[in-house]
Amino acid sequence: MGLSSRHLLGLDGAPKADIELILNTAVSFKEILNRPIKKVPTLQGKTIVNLFFENSTRTRISFELAERRLSADVVNFSASGSSVSKGETLKDTARNIEAMKIDMVVIRHNSAGTPHFLTRVVQSAVLNAGDGCHEHPTQALLDMYTLNEKFGRLDGLRVCIVGDITHSRVARSNIYGLKTMGATVSVCGPATLIPKEIEKLGVEVYHRIDDVLPNVDALNVLRVQMERQSGGLFPSLREYHRFFGVTKERLDKVDHPITIMHPGPINRDVELSADVADGPHSVILEQVLNGVAVRMSVLYLLGTVN
Ligand code: CP
Repeated sequence: MGLSSRHLLGLDGAPKADIELILNTAVSFKEILNRPIKKVPTLQGKTIVNLFFENSTRTRISFELAERRLSADVVNFSASGSSVSKGETLKDTARNIEAMKIDMVVIRHNSAGTPHFLTRVVQSAVLNAGDGCHEHPTQALLDMYTLNEKFGRLDGLRVCIVGDITHSRVARSNIYGLKTMGATVSVCGPATLIPKEIEKLGVEVYHRIDDVLPNVDALNVLRVQMERQSGGLFPSLREYHRFFGVTKERLDKVDHPITIMHPGPINRDVELSADVADGPHSVILEQVLNGVAVRMSVLYLLGTVN
């Protein structure tokens, strides 16, 4: 039994069986990552191109490591330094790269829907590594893997996503994935950063972080996207930290430990205080390691059928 689609574009509508298959398969790959020799021949002979039109540290390195650990041949592409700067379209760039016999394409782009567009112009399998404010499916899968590893279940788990929900592809993919897996999902942030109809996705909305803390097992704290804050969506970073910052002082008032996640990159002492980011309940670096295992799982499941 494989995945229901030959691409991974998002988790909106993704069957529960697909998510379970990816997460269960990732367990074996995590075990490989803990071996002295972290490489298997699974995708030997396959060629994967990583098309990154937007900056990335974690996702880009994680995909490349996952591909190399599966023994695939890897080609990295950045928009800067390519013929995109001479006016070449995405369609022409992708079709020219594919003419060189590529099997899979991993794409990050600042426009929502770009991976979907790519599936119409190339034959290769397409994996979405983050498209604008739309979806970031492998981030949500690694977040769910990390929660499942920590709690042994997703069903019934209470997870709150904190921060700029409106602009967050991580939030959207997490909401879709977690709801499908039976978790209770809430969001918390300033009213200006929460989409008006978010409740229709089956999430509860909070505007005071202190109200949500007693009712959650885990917080997924989002980065304040400085590059999108020119529109005055909140008064200042200092004020954001005061009202929504996850601090030790706040967490100490709750009678149970709360697992802290963050997709990175962190703005220390803005959305999360440094002692919480580095504290005993933070799983932020586990998320990063699990990202490699989860991406190996997705690449394996798509790469062996494409
Ligand atoms: N979590 C995440 O997508 O990080 P990068 O932007 O560094 O890839």
